[in-house]
Amino acid sequence: RRVGVMISGRGSNLKALHAASQAEDSPYSIVMVVSDNAAAPGLDWATENGIPTFATSADDGREGFEHRIHAALEGMKVEAIALAGFMRILSPEFVARWQGRIVNIHPSLLPKYPGLDTHARAIAAGDEVAGATVHVVTDKVDDGPIIGTAEVPVEAGDTPETLAARVLEAEHELYPQALAHWLTR
Ligand code: GRF
Repeated sequence: RRVGVMISGRGSNLKALHAASQAEDSPYSIVMVVSDNAAAPGLDWATENGIPTFATSADDGREGFEHRIHAALEGMKVEAIALAGFMRILSPEFVARWQGRIVNIHPSLLPKYPGLDTHARAIAAGDEVAGATVHVVTDKVDDGPIIGTAEVPVEAGDTPETLAARVLEAEHELYPQALAHWLTR
């Protein structure tokens, strides 16, 4: 399957998805990386690795922004979209156009802690277990059918940063597996 990855920043999940896609039996390849942020470090990495990129700003409004992204993805014959640290909410219209073909990774055990600051919230709640969730995107934020989860312990003395690092490592294992599983369902 031809997968487009959408990022806003560092792109460590993009790298993990790409690394797994190099396996001979991978059911997907990453054919394009899209960003709302032309300065996203993940875009430079993609370029260095020969993956076509498309960056466009949402400054002129979401409709035009999404229209340009849609056209770019169609131009590359993208079949499914993996959101990987893409920090914008997609409109119901965009989600409908890609109905059932967008997945996201979120750094909490959904339905706990949709939105931002998930690690600080897990620590504040005294949770003993944290983790990440891969889910199909619907027009509700951080909602939709769950494809896979990964759990990590919350350790004594954890800060949001130390917990984030532990969860991120688990994300890098989880996302390629969950994506591959979902694409071959
Ligand atoms: C990850 O924690 C992901 O779960 C969240 O944003 C972060 C992106 O990190 N949605 P990276 O850009 O993949 O390194």
